Amino acid sequence: MSTAAPRAPGGSADAPGRFDDTPFIRACRGQSVPHVPVWFMRQAGRSLPEYRAARGAGSILDAIAQPELVAELTRQPVDRYGTDAAIFFSDIVVPAAAVGFGVDVAPGTGPVVAEPFRSAADLARLRPLEPEVDTPYVIEAVDLLSRSLDVPLIGFAGGPFTVASYLVEGGPSKNFTRVKSLMQSDPGLWHDLVERLTDMALASLRSQLDAGVAAVQVFDSWAGILSPRHYAELVLPATTRLFADLEASHPGTPTILFGVGTGELLGLMSTAGPSVVGIDWRVPLDEARRRVGAGVAVQGNLDPAMCLGSWKVAAAETREVLDRAGTTPGHVFNLGHGVLPETDPGILEQVVALVHAEGRAGVGTLQ
Ligand code: CP3
Repeated sequence: MSTAAPRAPGGSADAPGRFDDTPFIRACRGQSVPHVPVWFMRQAGRSLPEYRAARGAGSILDAIAQPELVAELTRQPVDRYGTDAAIFFSDIVVPAAAVGFGVDVAPGTGPVVAEPFRSAADLARLRPLEPEVDTPYVIEAVDLLSRSLDVPLIGFAGGPFTVASYLVEGGPSKNFTRVKSLMQSDPGLWHDLVERLTDMALASLRSQLDAGVAAVQVFDSWAGILSPRHYAELVLPATTRLFADLEASHPGTPTILFGVGTGELLGLMSTAGPSVVGIDWRVPLDEARRRVGAGVAVQGNLDPAMCLGSWKVAAAETREVLDRAGTTPGHVFNLGHGVLPETDPGILEQVVALVHAEGRAGVGTLQ
């Protein structure tokens, strides 16, 4: 693997970048901060009227291929909420769709696959991703954004289990029975599939870093459906390789690993080598910090449903998260999962202000 990749404009430990001194990047690295940084998963999207106005109808996969539109949709929540980072507007199925696996995104449903992954013959439908050829619009949009944004841009990819689950199940799933069966009945094929998806995620993340994202998040959103033993055997090795290969080509890049319902997996996820582990709302942050261990930051973990009612509830619950995060450096405030579509944007704006005013993790620490 190459260690001579172009330096990310976002910077790295040995090549300081434009955003190294921002609260978000500093918190990812466990350094002191002037205020606790905050961003929201799914901060762009259906809850913003300006998003609905700019997006219009049409498939999200078409929107994603328009760099000017992507730049606008990525900027909207930063302008509206005052978040400390932007999340690149795209989707985790973009690489698989771009190599022609046959993935579409159905409005109101999510990713759907016409011919799901069933056997070794389907591996041929997952050729390696060539970002310059297959997803040039991603590179162009990241380039546009990284030169014009005042806050760090977070790039992302889907984690190996989560992307595999869509390809094998054929769409969103509740019990993940088909993918779990494949993992158990044909571990060799599962291994080949996961390695291929890991290569794809790696190629995509490297192209985003080379174009200027300052940090990356791996969304293995549905990995929490697995037992610790199965996660350790069948998902962790590829995930560990993903972070090791990223560190080799882009040393010092802040990396985040996130999943929902991962309470029993947090210690394992931490060993995969990310700088930050994303925590959902089920595990209080003080306990999450214990499970993740020293030297790894945490991100989270306000229950998104707490933003659906009164400000009184949202404020009390935000303060609870801040209390649990304590004063130790290394907390990025976020929701425990994505913004719910029916959320009043005004509440999120107030959450950002409250976190900035009252968050204490790493604030005033000498380092
Ligand atoms: O929610 C997560 O766990 C984040 C990881 C994830 C993304 N896409 C990243 C994303 C997952 C699991 C997906 C799959 C997917 N794609 C779903 C979920 C389906 C299911 O199984 O429940 C859906 C609905 C889509 C399609 C999609 N992606 C839409 C309609 C949009 C537009 C915004 C919106 O929410 O309506 C997206 C954008 C998207 N997907 C972003 C990310 C990181 C960028 C927006 C942001 O994070 O601000």
